[in-house]
Amino acid sequence: MKYSLPLLLLLLFINCKPNPATPTGEVADKAMVVSARKEASQIGVEILKKGGNAFDVMVGTDLALAVAYPFAGNLGGGGFMVYRQSNGDVGALDYREKAPLAAHRDMYLDSTGNVIPGMSTVGATAVAVPGTLAGLFEVHEKFGTLPIEEIIAPVIELVEQGVEVTEKQANRLEYYREQIMEVNGDNTLFYTSCKAGDTLRYSALANTLKRIAKNGRDEFYNGETAKILAKFIQDKGGFVTEEDLASYEAQWRQPVIFTYKDLRIISMSPPSSGGVTMNQIFKMIEPYDIGKYDHNSPEAIQLLTEAFRRSYADRNFYLGDPDFVDIPLDVLLSGAYLKERMDTFSWDQATLSSEVSHGEVQIAESMETTHYSIVDGFGNAVSVTTTLNGAYGSKLYCDELGFFLNNEMDDFSSKPGVPNMFGLTGAEANSIAAEKRMLSSMTPTIVEKDGNLWLVVGTPGGSTIITAVAQTILNAYEFNQSMQDAVNAPRFHHQWLPDLIIFEPGGFSGDIKDRLKAKGYQINEDRTPVIGKVDAIRVLPDGRLEGGADPRGDDTAVGY
Ligand code: DON
Repeated sequence: MKYSLPLLLLLLFINCKPNPATPTGEVADKAMVVSARKEASQIGVEILKKGGNAFDVMVGTDLALAVAYPFAGNLGGGGFMVYRQSNGDVGALDYREKAPLAAHRDMYLDSTGNVIPGMSTVGATAVAVPGTLAGLFEVHEKFGTLPIEEIIAPVIELVEQGVEVTEKQANRLEYYREQIMEVNGDNTLFYTSCKAGDTLRYSALANTLKRIAKNGRDEFYNGETAKILAKFIQDKGGFVTEEDLASYEAQWRQPVIFTYKDLRIISMSPPSSGGVTMNQIFKMIEPYDIGKYDHNSPEAIQLLTEAFRRSYADRNFYLGDPDFVDIPLDVLLSGAYLKERMDTFSWDQATLSSEVSHGEVQIAESMETTHYSIVDGFGNAVSVTTTLNGAYGSKLYCDELGFFLNNEMDDFSSKPGVPNMFGLTGAEANSIAAEKRMLSSMTPTIVEKDGNLWLVVGTPGGSTIITAVAQTILNAYEFNQSMQDAVNAPRFHHQWLPDLIIFEPGGFSGDIKDRLKAKGYQINEDRTPVIGKVDAIRVLPDGRLEGGADPRGDDTAVGY
């Protein structure tokens, strides 16, 4: 097509977005916390104002989420953290739950070898050894500056004052009410009925937190809390013992680090699949220069889908707990291997997942994990994703201690080839063994641009986490969107199996879908769920910070 000169100039003018993009989210001069609840972000900022650093904030914000966002915030779960200190040092902490000592490969199978429905997802049998407190204390011991009591004090105050229920929270509680009561009985102290505007107070949790503030990490893993917790889980038929709690350790890990053009991306290593899978995705698409296509155009969707498909096929086969399985990372992340994986990609026609591998499964998307991003005034950045796995985890709520227990055992592959609740089909590498950590998709990530801190990003979303984080980074980098716009933008997902693209509601036209269908892409028209709930921070060229708090939830950026 030929354009006249004035028309060309006009088009150039229209397309000429300022680079870097003008912020559209919350902007702060010094420091910022973005999390799933305003209360948790605010407690983080209070800690910063008292002179604490991003690592102190992590402890306070994490615990505050257990109070204000018990759907996913937790004491009874686990998570992953990636950090970048102001001097450029980077690292990662794995405080993922682990299988109890009594766990074994076939623990969720019946005598005929079939998976027993619900056993790895609901109630005490689904609970793995929680890692959250070990993780928070490990971080505090290595990097914290404020006394732990001072960090926990505002959280205890929040429990005692109570938390106002939001509309979204009330709806979620209503949705899960019956299941929570089925697991815990009608007399549970957890609020199974409330409406927006009500105040929730959990006095048992205040007592637990007071003991933890006084006695430290040992309270949870060797003290009174450990005894109460282990007895409670066992009385309910679960496997976690005092010995399991006493032997839990968080692990420092080398993060996965890779470059994409002039970005340096630092993300979570196994037992999370996030960093490895994202590394594969970015390296597979790098030669194709996705930025020359329009954002969310059929071409951009096609290219990403083909990279998603291939990397998830590898994820599900090769990845597991690195302390138990050898992961051939050298090969999986090598340029030659990734180039070869894309040799079968054609712009004309979809590659079928059955040609990459095989299987028939369902995807379940959800947002029951939570992510928060922190940048402090010293220039340290912390990116944390933490979870109970399902909504309110196993739904098992310990009335005496005031918190929910995870159902993270379901992230193992209970039986090779049988999908878990996220439709992920695992293999031997992720089979169950005593004290092993289950494979995760959580992808807390930090991105440097030209050697400087640029983005802190992550999201919940089960198997959709990795593709949502990848799209957010590409939105900001390749499509020059502000942090808030990059978070808001509609997302799509493909995970190899089932061989379907899912699209968020409203964000993708019929024409885009038709053009993809014409090339053989299968689209899940029945399911158009919300994908992820990204909380991110962008460092602007002048050093100010822009938050991207996902409007899909009650997420809030607070800065100063
Ligand atoms: O570790 C994982 O990959 C899952 N347990 C995360 C669960 C999650 O994101 C739930 N919410 N969507």
